[in-house]
Amino acid sequence: MRPFRLRRSVLSVPGSSEKMLRKAKTLPADVIMFDLEDSVPVDQKEQARALVNHILGEGKWDERVTVSLRINAMDTPFAYRDVINVVEPSGNVIDTIVLPKVNDPCEVKALDYLLTQIEMNKGYEVGRIGIEASVETAQGLLKVKEIAFSSPRLESLVFGVADYATSVSARVKGTSGHGDAEEFYPGHRWHFPISRMVMAAKAAGLAAIDAPYGFFRDLAGLRRSCELAAALGCDGKWAIHPDQIPIINEVFSPSEDDVERSKAIVDAYEEARKEGKGVVAIDGKMVDGATVRIATQTLRAWELISRKV
Ligand code: COA
Ligand code: MG
Repeated sequence: MRPFRLRRSVLSVPGSSEKMLRKAKTLPADVIMFDLEDSVPVDQKEQARALVNHILGEGKWDERVTVSLRINAMDTPFAYRDVINVVEPSGNVIDTIVLPKVNDPCEVKALDYLLTQIEMNKGYEVGRIGIEASVETAQGLLKVKEIAFSSPRLESLVFGVADYATSVSARVKGTSGHGDAEEFYPGHRWHFPISRMVMAAKAAGLAAIDAPYGFFRDLAGLRRSCELAAALGCDGKWAIHPDQIPIINEVFSPSEDDVERSKAIVDAYEEARKEGKGVVAIDGKMVDGATVRIATQTLRAWELISRKV
């Protein structure tokens, strides 16, 4: 059983930027993701690995923060070096590896085996490091079900909007390509791939995480993007800039009203069960087993958030 982690906000930090890596330590994201992929130029991959090891080696991250490493995709010349050069020295402080552009479940399995070899060789706890699979290609979305069930190390599936748009040749009008300038489409353009990913993730007991919102000065657009993702079942969203973290944390946290309502639902249902009933009415609305499961999830998330603040 994998640990249940808070993943409201996942801050991506370029692995080649010492300044940003240091600043990340002070920021309130639930997950800090050291990026070796798309924010690091090809000619800086090696220096970035060394820098990430250096920063991780300085030790002591807040234990409530999940430390994550995004490696390069399995069909690049970089992925094996990313894993070996960083997980060998720093595997004791890395909680999860994000694998980008997953097209096929065998890529997750290959990473799983490589991690197991390193853990055994270095004397690390075998299986402790989790995997998060980023599905952001047409092939990946097609095989998302098989990907979701491909390894006991998996903890989440992550949607990547910019690479998905490229992969299906969807017209992009925004500068960033990461979910901005979407107004020309009537409705939520990414509803189908996100819902498909969420369904596979939840069926496999995994978290579902939404892509970042690229226009980082547009906080209203970010909020809307978070709300759409939350409504579809996502548990959190990537951030690319510090200013995005508070809004993401807020939208993906239950409100005080949600918590009070959930407590009332659980209490009323327990009372009803004592009287042998499986359904009860609260303020003219039906509460049954399914309502209670939603309320219980809300309370579980709230308990973890309360431990953080
Ligand atoms: N992690 C940590 N710190 C960050 C950060 C990040 N992702 N993004 C910005 N910062 C820091 C800046 O260094 C700056 O620090 P300072 O106040 O101590 O000088 C501060 O936050 C404010 O940044 P700002 O000046 O508004 O933005 P910028 O022009 O420096 O950076 C980006 C803008 C987009 C280049 C930068 O946010 C970035 O590189 N984001 C991550 C991109 C990424 O990881 N992409 C791949 C995943 S999709
Ligand atoms: Mg991507």
